[in-house]
Amino acid sequence: MSDPNDLGAFLNLGWQRLSRGVADRRAAARHPVFATVSPDGKPEARTVVLRGADRDSGTVEVHTDGGSDKITSLQSNAHAQVHVWDEKAKLQLRLSTRVSMLSGEDAAQRWTRVPDGSRMAYGASPKPGTPIPNAHDYEKLAQRDWFTVLICEIDEIELMQLIDPHRRAYFQRADDWAGQWCVP
Ligand SMILES: Cc1cc2nc3c(=O)[nH]c(=O)nc-3n(C[C@H](O)[C@H](O)[C@H](O)COP(=O)(O)O)c2cc1C
Repeated sequence: MSDPNDLGAFLNLGWQRLSRGVADRRAAARHPVFATVSPDGKPEARTVVLRGADRDSGTVEVHTDGGSDKITSLQSNAHAQVHVWDEKAKLQLRLSTRVSMLSGEDAAQRWTRVPDGSRMAYGASPKPGTPIPNAHDYEKLAQRDWFTVLICEIDEIELMQLIDPHRRAYFQRADDWAGQWCVP
């Protein structure tokens, strides 16, 4: 049995589960909750697809429609939390991040890797969230101009594992990810 006090191994587990989410459509981390703060200070959470997880840079990546409301929120407050509950590993991950956005030419290379079927998610007329008289009174534009990459630079990773006994730790970039146990 591995050492339950090994902070490094706990962090490794967190990154393994995130990477799994990028590679495997059925993994729990495939669909994190992405939470932002609206310009009037209210919490906003929604499901997204995890498109990238890079341990070296300490970033995760999400793709979105540049016309969506979360863009306005991120322009006024760049902090976002990424939340995953991974039932198999009995692990909750909370990533506190600062988000930078890429679009247009800066996102061109990634756009070439977006499959045709998925391009529909980027660009809508009228804009996402606009009230419409009937359910289908909109068009999907599938345009690169609306394709926006959210690079989420992680400041802190908090892991909480519901094994017996429970364990919880946080890992901070400022601390070079050394890690600290805390009370679950
Ligand atoms: C399974 C699932 C996956 C989703 N993936 C994404 C995604 O990768 N990017 C995205 O912007 N919205 C995604 N959405 C839609 C969002 O949850 C949300 O409805 C949309 O982005 C509008 O949010 P906003 O108005 O807060 O910006 C997904 C929804 C579901 C149910």
